[in-house]
Amino acid sequence: MAKKPAKKRAPKKTSVSATRRRLIEAAKSAQKSAYCPYSRYPVGAAVLTDSGRIYTGCNVENASFGLAICAERVAIFKAVSHGEKKVKALCVAAKSAKPCGACRQVITEFAPKDAEVIIVDWQPLEKKEKITRTTAGKLLPYAFNPSEAGL
Ligand code: THU
Repeated sequence: MAKKPAKKRAPKKTSVSATRRRLIEAAKSAQKSAYCPYSRYPVGAAVLTDSGRIYTGCNVENASFGLAICAERVAIFKAVSHGEKKVKALCVAAKSAKPCGACRQVITEFAPKDAEVIIVDWQPLEKKEKITRTTAGKLLPYAFNPSEAGL
């Protein structure tokens, strides 16, 4: 029997909605403001709140290394300081980006379990980006839960 012709596959592309794309571009743009003279590892983040606004953040380091703060927390704290306590989606952009453990607990505080977390692995000088989508609940499945603790 004749071999079936191989199916033509559409080129793999990660399609994202317009709002997600806005969030991704905001995170990438925020990365440009990173203050990271010690690690030389710039990170950008952006959060979409339930009002529809986007708040951005970058990592800010210090000569006293332990005082560095991650981009994700800067973005979330900016939103909260504007009275916005519900995060619908968060994006982090960096080379091999992934929110650290501390940021995961802070994300848990302000984002419902199903809030979208978009991880953009990219380097500003490269055209390529790899997008991974997950949720706040999946990022920190066994989170410290204040109501369980009676707080
Ligand atoms: N950093 C972030 O901003 N977000 C992360 O998710 C991981 C790490 C920053 C902290 C520090 O300025 C630099 O990256 C190296 O750890």
